[in-house]
Amino acid sequence: MNDDIPVARRQPTRVGRKQGLVISSRLWLSLGLGLILLGLLFWVDWGLLGLSDSPEVAAPVAVEESSQSSFSLPPPTLQDGRVSVLGHFAFSEAPLDSLQAVGSYHGREIRLRQAAAESYRRMNEAAQAAGIRLVPISGFRSIADQEFLFFQLAQSRALRPEERAAVSAPPGYSEHHTGYAIDIGDAGFPQFDTEEGFETTPAFRWLESNAARFGFELSFPRGNPQGVSYEPWHWRFVGDRNSLETFYTR
Ligand code: DAL
Ligand code: ZN
Repeated sequence: MNDDIPVARRQPTRVGRKQGLVISSRLWLSLGLGLILLGLLFWVDWGLLGLSDSPEVAAPVAVEESSQSSFSLPPPTLQDGRVSVLGHFAFSEAPLDSLQAVGSYHGREIRLRQAAAESYRRMNEAAQAAGIRLVPISGFRSIADQEFLFFQLAQSRALRPEERAAVSAPPGYSEHHTGYAIDIGDAGFPQFDTEEGFETTPAFRWLESNAARFGFELSFPRGNPQGVSYEPWHWRFVGDRNSLETFYTR
């Protein structure tokens, strides 16, 4: 049948058909492998971008969203005629040149506004004469310092703003901004530094009886109307006109 076709021309045709088959099956194989590879790539990307429904992958997105919303503060309101957030009143920062050192705590200098610093030094001398060793733990804090304390610590301890606000003021709302507030400890009981147990120390008992003579008062006694947690260690100076007006002007 094919004898009329020269051998030289017949052979390539047969080989060509065979080669065509080989090429097309290789093509199909590559196509199949390519599709599988593409599928794999899509699957990996999908998961890594957090688009999958898998809880392990979706979780970081959810946590980020919840931490964002839970750390925004409510807008300021008027409480007792004063601008306040979560029970804390707004205060402006003391001028830096009005601050004086009253000691140090773990290598950090503790500063108060001049009148408060002078009075604290006198109070410290009187306490020492009575065998009491006061420790200045924290004095002036800038709004930036408070920002770190309030948000970073709240986040690392997983506290909601309302919970954090019970023990620390939001930035812009701390008495420490004024340079008139100081946290005090007892050198003999460092385990009670900024702890409620401070009220059991000789330093606290001495302050209760004597701080008023030096113009200091407890800012947050038990059941204070601001709803701030009891802080036996946190004292504020109200011994001159400016400090008194800072805390009592409506
Ligand atoms: N610990 C008090 C409330 C403050 O941060 O000002
Ligand atoms: Zn304090």
